[in-house]
Amino acid sequence: MKTWNTTFSKEDLEVGWDGIFPLELAKKVIKTFSKENETVLDPFCGTGTTLVAAKELHRKGVGIDLSQKIIDIAKTRGVNPKVGSVFSLSELVTKDSIDLVFTSPPYWTHLTKYTDYIPQKDEDVGKIQSYTSFLHDLKRAFSQVFLVLKQGGKCAVLVTDLSDDKVRALPTDLIKILTEIGLKYQETIVWDKRTEISRKLKRELSEIPESLNEKILVFSKELI
Ligand SMILES: C[S@@+](CC[C@H](N)C(=O)[O-])C[C@H]1O[C@@H](n2cnc3c(N)ncnc32)[C@H](O)[C@@H]1O
Repeated sequence: MKTWNTTFSKEDLEVGWDGIFPLELAKKVIKTFSKENETVLDPFCGTGTTLVAAKELHRKGVGIDLSQKIIDIAKTRGVNPKVGSVFSLSELVTKDSIDLVFTSPPYWTHLTKYTDYIPQKDEDVGKIQSYTSFLHDLKRAFSQVFLVLKQGGKCAVLVTDLSDDKVRALPTDLIKILTEIGLKYQETIVWDKRTEISRKLKRELSEIPESLNEKILVFSKELI
């Protein structure tokens, strides 16, 4: 299993949004799984990190997010995602047009404390109460992703274990769901966060992530 030890840069932290992943991580995924001039989609694009990385690496970036407020932050980073729901993705993005998806969906209800940014709409994947319904909605969301992905295209999804009264193995559950949709599971890359966590401890920040790593699950849409 590959392990990437990527930390947040000063610029990442200055974006001011806790749901972000490091720009360097998005660049590693995009360099590994796509070529110049190809099209990269993030259907839960938030502040647009995937799109910024795509632009810097000479790929075309396409982004969708439910929240106008988060998209306004993305625009300050020089990218231009669309407001929309992943559940209508195939109406917003041409079918069979995407070479690579890199995304991180809401980690169930983990972002709902940021009420300024999270829209209170029924489509918000982050405000679903039951874990079973959350998985059901992720299945609906990635069924749309499947439609817009080219044959031979890749889909990389960043997730981690979650916990409420028990530990929820989201990476394992997501592999099952995406395989049922028709994507072929290829590999897991571990994002090792131990350096990041020790840096946070040194800065004495109060909020320490629960897990020492997150997982990038990589799938492909097979040629038929
Ligand atoms: C983990 S954050 C993504 C963060 C992003 N990687 C970044 O760099 O900022 C998940 C995003 O999913 C969005 N979201 C939730 N439900 C959605 C839906 N149905 N369609 C599209 N976006 C949705 C939220 O608004 C949030 O911005």
